[in-house]
Amino acid sequence: MTINRQWLLARRPQGDVRPDDFRLAEGAVPVPQDGDVLVRSLFFGFDASQRIWLTDDGGYMPPIMPGEAMRCMGIGQVVESRNPDYRPGDLVEGFMSWQDYCLVRADGPMPLRHLPQADYPISWNLGVFGVGGLTAYFGVADGLKVGPGDTVVVSAATGATGSLAGQIARARGAKKVIGIAGGPEKCRWIVEQAGYDAAIDYRNDDLGAKLKELAPEGVNAYFDNVGGDMLDELFLHMAPRGRILICGAMSSGYTDVKLQGPANYMRICTHQLTVQGILLFFYADQIPQGAAQLGQWVAEGRIHVEENRQHGFEKAPELLPTLFSGKAPGKLVLHIADPV
Ligand SMILES: NC(=O)c1ccc[n+]([C@@H]2O[C@H](COP(=O)([O-])OP(=O)(O)OC[C@H]3O[C@@H](n4cnc5c(N)ncnc54)[C@H](OP(=O)(O)O)[C@@H]3O)[C@@H](O)[C@H]2O)c1
Repeated sequence: MTINRQWLLARRPQGDVRPDDFRLAEGAVPVPQDGDVLVRSLFFGFDASQRIWLTDDGGYMPPIMPGEAMRCMGIGQVVESRNPDYRPGDLVEGFMSWQDYCLVRADGPMPLRHLPQADYPISWNLGVFGVGGLTAYFGVADGLKVGPGDTVVVSAATGATGSLAGQIARARGAKKVIGIAGGPEKCRWIVEQAGYDAAIDYRNDDLGAKLKELAPEGVNAYFDNVGGDMLDELFLHMAPRGRILICGAMSSGYTDVKLQGPANYMRICTHQLTVQGILLFFYADQIPQGAAQLGQWVAEGRIHVEENRQHGFEKAPELLPTLFSGKAPGKLVLHIADPV
């Protein structure tokens, strides 16, 4: 009998998520019912939003309950299908869970995507062609509408989303792209590898003074992955009619602690700022166009893709907390198995 390894939620995390919030189990391979697709896991992606799904209300998705397998974005190969659009052997990307085999529905808020034949690694469908890359693309192109002449700032600029957002802004003709990250090494990476014009080390630099120096005429577009005090400071450096995109709030840790709004929000009024959110679900029907544009920029060498690939099913619980405590630049993925 084939064994299905599973990482189940042992208890709801209190504060920071910890490896022992999960427990290892072995179950049977699930049996698909009408509409289900049985998928064998090949890669798990790691996303800060997984911490949101572990809260009492789950945020924008149903909360993961103790005893359930941890939800993730993943890449898998179809083993058996009760949905005519998917066939055994197909490679797919979508909502999966931390198990060797899981049942996936194609009718959720995001499509279960067929992966194209391509000459790049399939795991890039979780990164540059996955949630991070596509959110960066729609956030910069549609949310912030970055164009020539814009000075753009991106926070969490070595993350899966932030590392691409600035490069996309550059590809759309931005005048200056500034990234914010923690530590001198990451700041060096932002400039040398991701090609940003400048970087600010939020752990060691005076953020306000650096923004004044690097963006003396103000920031036209801010791609916010961090929220909190950083967002509050950015309000003070926005140019009149500047645009802010709220993509995430890493500084909150996404725990159950109530979030505090920005104190400097009257700048929205006095500088006629636009503040907009983004959730990739709203762009679900435009994903093929977004992926095609990203693919063109990657092929032209205008976007540097960074992947932080780890190996082994057993590692999943220890990798999730590193999104909040510090990890290498780029998209964090876990290799589970190879396609057959
Ligand atoms: N709205 C959407 O549809 C959508 C889609 C994708 C992602 N997101 C959001 O985008 C954000 C980034 O996600 P990602 O997947 O791109 O990132 P990631 O690859 O998981 O990296 C997260 C980065 O955040 C930084 N960070 C962690 N804690 C921080 C803090 N307290 N202050 C400042 N920076 C901190 C870390 O870099 P340092 O070492 O520099 O601190 C880390 O590299 C998250 O908030 C996520 O929820 C939203």
